[in-house]
Amino acid sequence: MKNNSVAVVLLLLAAGVHSFGFDELTRYVDTHKEEYVQALREWVAVESDSSDITKRSELHRMMELVVEKLQHLGGKVEMVDIGMQELPDGSTVALPKVVTAEFGSNVSDVTVCVYGHVDVQPAQKEDGWSTDPYNLTDINGNLYGRGASDNKAPVLAWIHAVEAYQALKIDLPVNVKFIIEGMEETGSNGLAAMIEAQKDTFFSDVDYIIISDCGWLSSRPALTYGTRGNCYFLAEVEGPKQDLHSGVHGGTVIEPMTDLIGILDTMISPDGSILIPGIMDAVSAFSHDEWRFYQDIEFDMDSYRAKIGVDQLMYNNKTELLAHRWRYPTVSIHGIEGAFSAPGTKTVIPAKVTAKFSIRQVPDMDPAVVEKQVTDHLHSEFAKRKSPNKLKVRMVIGAKPWLADPKHPLYQAGKAAVKRAFNTEPDLIREGGTIPIARTFQDVTEKNIIMLPIGGFDDGLHSQNEKMSRYNYIEGTKLFIAYLHEVAQITKD
Ligand SMILES: *[C@@H]1O[C@H](CO)[C@@H](O)[C@H](O)[C@H]1NC(C)=O
Ligand SMILES: *[C@@H]1O[C@H](CO)[C@@H](O)[C@H](O)[C@H]1NC(C)=O
Ligand SMILES: *[C@@H]1O[C@H](CO)[C@@H](O)[C@H](O)[C@H]1NC(C)=O
Ligand SMILES: [Zn+2]
Repeated sequence: MKNNSVAVVLLLLAAGVHSFGFDELTRYVDTHKEEYVQALREWVAVESDSSDITKRSELHRMMELVVEKLQHLGGKVEMVDIGMQELPDGSTVALPKVVTAEFGSNVSDVTVCVYGHVDVQPAQKEDGWSTDPYNLTDINGNLYGRGASDNKAPVLAWIHAVEAYQALKIDLPVNVKFIIEGMEETGSNGLAAMIEAQKDTFFSDVDYIIISDCGWLSSRPALTYGTRGNCYFLAEVEGPKQDLHSGVHGGTVIEPMTDLIGILDTMISPDGSILIPGIMDAVSAFSHDEWRFYQDIEFDMDSYRAKIGVDQLMYNNKTELLAHRWRYPTVSIHGIEGAFSAPGTKTVIPAKVTAKFSIRQVPDMDPAVVEKQVTDHLHSEFAKRKSPNKLKVRMVIGAKPWLADPKHPLYQAGKAAVKRAFNTEPDLIREGGTIPIARTFQDVTEKNIIMLPIGGFDDGLHSQNEKMSRYNYIEGTKLFIAYLHEVAQITKD
């Protein structure tokens, strides 16, 4: 009897030297993958569209499902009231509560906090989906459904990673906290205030924040160390007191649309250079280290070009292209409100037109400075026209970029986890888009953040036929299991 227990202990010790039970954990994942797909099916079936106020009860139900799932694992789970949302008509409606959970509380262990969201973008079959967007459908190993990749499967994968440790009675290598919200797709209304309020409570013992709300760049796993910010502007030119007929009044008035197009055209050149004075001054220099990362990235220009359906890209080498996608600012003109845009040939002179454009932000741009540069530039260009019309420029969103140090141990742990789960080196990438909450976490909690994506490069986020592949979902769960182990190896700072 005694000898047997000694043997078991020795066996366990020996096993510990080689692994932390990773093989056992991955076997557990493999034998439970149908349940994981079923869990995703249940979550995707909830139309948790945060932009549509008529779906608010579905969103509340979605948050309840998250609570149930986390409580099932025996975590300390809370629903945090983040108040009311004010609607354009002045009425108010309750924001979905933010779900927090905690697994493990050993103060000598590292504590990670996983952020995710379970609200989705709108989707309807009529938008051009091949399947019902809220009925998860497996076609050739791809699981199609709204929110499958953004962000329901990654949230589930994290929960399943914790569950696997528990089921096998392997101690979680770190304390794991969750913060799951339901308003991400409409700007994380109420979340920044909640993070601020819980800075010295829920976040006080958090060492690192993990976000898995983005995707790989190719079929190779990736670690993401930066996102661009965004400054969104409205430029309104107002002229006559009502719309006019071009046959009757054309030639007698200075048209607001002509003014607007004229000034918009002074912001960016055909070759992509931003012409607004001073904007490029704050853009950090492209370092040699960065250049080296870019060389190693797996990215095929031709398939990217084909995927988005253009004949020619703005830059014709990989480094230039990726750099302009991730680490340089850009100006995009999105639309003109008040302009005639219906089919047909109405000969209207619109009385008031409002352009919508945005400038993606990169380190070390400051939205307040950009606001002034853009406003001054447009007013000065407008003044040159000596137009009697009125110009108003407003910045309505000013989201800062986020950048991490890819040499930080969090990223070393990420590389080790990718190696363990996929037996390859990850690409170190950035995102051209904006995840404002990353910057909020960084500014408020001052914790280090890693973005650890499991979504595929072609998942079609926000688009028709969004999907998550079974491969990414299941292997991604194993990656998270490995990451919890690797991040525990970091000496607490
Ligand atoms: C806390 O963790 C340390 C180091 O990982 C371990 O030695 C200790 O036994 C743990 N304490 C409890 C109460 O589990
Ligand atoms: C989902 O799609 C499957 C296959 O087409 C169908 O059998 C099932 O009834 C659908 N479920 C719902 C809830 O619409
Ligand atoms: C890509 O463009 C950059 C900047 O113009 C240049 O330094 C680099 O040599 C180019 N690389 C290749 C492979 O052509
Ligand atoms: Zn998302």
